[in-house]
Amino acid sequence: MVRTLPQLIDGLDQRVWRLPHVIMIMGKGGVGKTTVGLRLAIELARLGRRVLLASLDPAGHLLEYLGLPGPLREVEAAPGIRAIQYEVDGLARKVAEEYSLLLRRLMPGLQALGVEDVVETVREAPGFEEEVFLRILSSLYERRDVDVVIVDMPPTGIALRVVALPRLHLFWVERLRELREKIVSIKYAIANALGRHAEADDPVLRRLEELRSRYQGLLGEIEDPLRTSVVAVATPEPLPVYEVSVIAKKLQEHRVALKMIVANRVLGERAQQLGLEEMERQALTRLEEIRCSLRPSPSLAVIAHMSRPPSSLRDAEALGDYILKIKHGCKRE
Ligand SMILES: Nc1ncnc2c1ncn2[C@@H]1O[C@H](COP(=O)(O)OP(=O)(O)OP(=O)(O)O)[C@@H](O)[C@H]1O
Ligand SMILES: [Mg+2]
Repeated sequence: MVRTLPQLIDGLDQRVWRLPHVIMIMGKGGVGKTTVGLRLAIELARLGRRVLLASLDPAGHLLEYLGLPGPLREVEAAPGIRAIQYEVDGLARKVAEEYSLLLRRLMPGLQALGVEDVVETVREAPGFEEEVFLRILSSLYERRDVDVVIVDMPPTGIALRVVALPRLHLFWVERLRELREKIVSIKYAIANALGRHAEADDPVLRRLEELRSRYQGLLGEIEDPLRTSVVAVATPEPLPVYEVSVIAKKLQEHRVALKMIVANRVLGERAQQLGLEEMERQALTRLEEIRCSLRPSPSLAVIAHMSRPPSSLRDAEALGDYILKIKHGCKRE
């Protein structure tokens, strides 16, 4: 009897997805995020999906894996698979310039305060990098020429803050809108009392309304499990597993669906020879605990340690033989 090997995509509910669907891959550095992203891209392309692999991780190695030239150019890496490495520093400079122009116009006094290099000041502002990532993410949700976007996310801390940002922005935009509404109504009342013409249309209020609907839209997409899936990857070691527990907790708080946990580079029987059996067993038990503490429970994919570290699209194809199992549901469910 021919045994059909499991596929990573079996761990995701792709049949019910709304397109374009965004898969965010998170996990500690070096655990196999890029490899898992490539493997998912291959499997989805085989199913006839048009895939875009987008790396937001500056040290993500996507280009090396695909043997591609420099960043920021989207290329067809294989039939049905497009790929792009974002160059966040360059984009950050552009966004900082936009903001600093706006600030200079609104607050000419900045120069007098000695804040001459407004671009640099904006770039150093807390949360600025996250804002740039959010802009990229938002543009990826708008893609209509692909079915699935697989995002190789930046390091966990930043990735989680990016996901949290639309709600935070929405909170502030709402408060600003309330304030502006008060100001506009007072201006209107004063103008009326003085018998002057008052402009009912307020450009600031209009801009705030625009921002509100943009962030509401994005939040709706990130929180919609049919539009967004997060895949968390770990190797069976304490720190990568701990990072998955942080990802699971934070995503639950932000109401974003963690759909699959991938245990990668699992040694299995070979762990015993290396004296790593106990560590591996504990790590896998912990991943199972994390998975089963969530409702709905994400699936678990187990990938064995390959004898040769994968470093190309072809290696990601060969990885198919190393996918040991996909577990769905939990006993307690
Ligand atoms: N199943 C596997 N067996 C053996 N080696 C693997 C396996 N999966 C990944 N690797 C190797 O582990 C290293 C890290 O993998 P990868 O680049 O996919 O991880 P990453 O999480 O994207 O890393 P980074 O944070 O540096 O971007 C690479 O050298 C890769 O070849
Ligand atoms: Mg990577």
